[in-house]
Amino acid sequence: MDTKSYWEKIDQKMDKVRFLDRLHPLERLFEEKVKIGLDIGTYSIKMVQLKDTPKGPTLVKLGYKEIPKTLSESKASGTEQDSIASVLRELWQEQKIKGRRVRLAVSDSSIYSRDISIPRVTEEELVKAIKWQAEKYIPFSIDDAIVDFQTLRSDSKKGSDQMEIIVVAAKKETVNKYLTVLKEAKLIPTNLDVCPFAVVKSFLKNYPVNKEEMVAVIDIGAKVTSVIIAKRGSLQFVRNIELAGSNFTQVLAQGLNVEKIEAEKIKKRSSLYPLEMDEKKEGPNIFPIIEPLLVELAQEINRSFAYCETEQLTQRINKVILYGGGARLKGLDKFLKEKLRVPVEIGNPFKDIAIDRIEVDTPILDEVSSSLMAALGAAL
Ligand SMILES: Nc1ncnc2c1ncn2[C@@H]1O[C@H](COP(=O)(O)OP(=O)(O)OP(=O)(O)O)[C@@H](O)[C@H]1O
Ligand SMILES: [Mg+2]
Repeated sequence: MDTKSYWEKIDQKMDKVRFLDRLHPLERLFEEKVKIGLDIGTYSIKMVQLKDTPKGPTLVKLGYKEIPKTLSESKASGTEQDSIASVLRELWQEQKIKGRRVRLAVSDSSIYSRDISIPRVTEEELVKAIKWQAEKYIPFSIDDAIVDFQTLRSDSKKGSDQMEIIVVAAKKETVNKYLTVLKEAKLIPTNLDVCPFAVVKSFLKNYPVNKEEMVAVIDIGAKVTSVIIAKRGSLQFVRNIELAGSNFTQVLAQGLNVEKIEAEKIKKRSSLYPLEMDEKKEGPNIFPIIEPLLVELAQEINRSFAYCETEQLTQRINKVILYGGGARLKGLDKFLKEKLRVPVEIGNPFKDIAIDRIEVDTPILDEVSSSLMAALGAAL
């Protein structure tokens, strides 16, 4: 099938159906050994290329490119889309990527999730039932939404005639915006995932289910911090907190009376605890300036945990794994460990994934790997 007719097919599908899931069968047309996962954030674009080898999926290429600053701040304008498309083109050139088919993780602060309980129905009835139920819960019109879902369990304690389902909805407008960008960059989506599902996929690949552990995955990006909790192998809870790396930069710029660009540089080279961490102290002490924000972030995370526990969605959270560019703030893991009173570690999305060390630039991988979680999940 040529690119034009493929796009026609996607456009038709996007018009008619609202389930992300429906795009998946298209993928069968392209059984490929190489898979490219893409995560387009507000700050950066992340790309992961995996190849099927006898050792399992192997990382052969990766990309992390920041979207020029002024652009990522103006939301959803035509120019922003043009620029994202040009960053994508540069990425493809620099990395000498031949493949044009990509698997996209859609991230957006409007993504909404909720677990619902519905009477047990057959597979065919399920889609209809979810649509009907989702209409009641999603805070925007279902006509404007793209919905995806996963069955959590079908024999809940409420009685075996109920099944529990997590429903995730994103605004159709957002998804269409991503599709336009891909089209402009001459890329073809063969699969769409919402970020929390992609994150859970790569988390489970690297951290197998351990009954003793109740892990929360926290992705700290630029605009949004997502608290994601998986249980028994599937997504159980997701909440977006609109407090992340760009807020730290903003507050630093004000506190130090410098431009945001300068504040961003200071943030990246500073540590919250320079003396305790035995690091050379460079520049200003950033901790007192961003402490109120960090405290607020920890409180919001704690609130999410408390909600999950009181609603009995999960047991007590006893471990946190951090991802995203914001998690690279030196000392943040230590701060959150003290405030949340659970062990906190920086996650490695490639802990259990083979890496082609000839193709992949190891220092770059080490630097950006915590940001590649959703892109990896989309590629898997
Ligand atoms: N070394 C570092 N130290 C501190 N913060 C960092 C570092 N590197 C990146 N960041 C911050 O991480 C954030 C970007 O993270 P990431 O690339 O994961 O964002 P994104 O996925 O594009 O954003 P979002 O998911 O919110 O749309 C920025 O606020 C940036 O300042
Ligand atoms: Mg992100």
